[in-house]
Amino acid sequence: MPARKPSIGGNWKMNLDTAGVKALTGDLLKVLDTSIADTVDVTVFPPFPYLAPVAGALCDAGSQLQVGAQDAWATPNGAFTGEVSLSMLKDVGVSTVLVGHSERRHVIGESDELVNEKLLAALDAGFEVVLAIGEKLEQRESGKTNLVNIGQTCLGLAGTTAQQMAKVTLAYEPVWAIGTGKTATPQDAQDAHLAIRQAVGSLHGEDVANALRIQYGGSMKPGNAADLLAQPDIDGGLIGGAALSADDFAAIVRAAS
Ligand code: PGA
Repeated sequence: MPARKPSIGGNWKMNLDTAGVKALTGDLLKVLDTSIADTVDVTVFPPFPYLAPVAGALCDAGSQLQVGAQDAWATPNGAFTGEVSLSMLKDVGVSTVLVGHSERRHVIGESDELVNEKLLAALDAGFEVVLAIGEKLEQRESGKTNLVNIGQTCLGLAGTTAQQMAKVTLAYEPVWAIGTGKTATPQDAQDAHLAIRQAVGSLHGEDVANALRIQYGGSMKPGNAADLLAQPDIDGGLIGGAALSADDFAAIVRAAS
């Protein structure tokens, strides 16, 4: 099995302001040694208005931290009021696009088809893409965890080529664990990750599945990161709450390295 480089994302969600973004970015540059990028891929996902300043600050500092967008619109520039295009994101230094986050699916109402459209457009435009999936509490309680995750994986990845998969990371985020302080046990998370990897194997073959990085997200913190990351199919994390503290985020990145 090929060694997979761990991958950690910091999803800042709709938090912070100019001063807070500046402080967090500066603190991350202080606490994360630049050599960390040799062992872990680290991406931060600021809100849209702060993408350009964060990308600029990281670039000026010679940092290898990547900047990602929390969402994007699939169609090129034009009459899409309120949306942000992939070309705009590229223009301001964004390298990664997150699609299918549970808050987009369940609060905003995005369908698997829209998530897939965004994923394909972002890949076509040359971005790294993180596809987030995960079951709700009632789905877990009714034994549908794997069914939901495999469905979201296959629908989200529909139309991708095996070659494009080199630019895709999956993020398994059980909805009931996001921002709640509840975390999947390492074994439950491992079981879900394995089922997701097998689904990708049936779509694109074993080599692609073995090379695919699958992040865990849902209340990953410095205190539980090591146990989760020790699981054979957990290759990193997508961090929300703990990504707003440079020290906590750095502790998780170090646990992954
Ligand atoms: P959390 O968020 O770490 O606060 O649970 C994770 C996410 O939504 O990406």
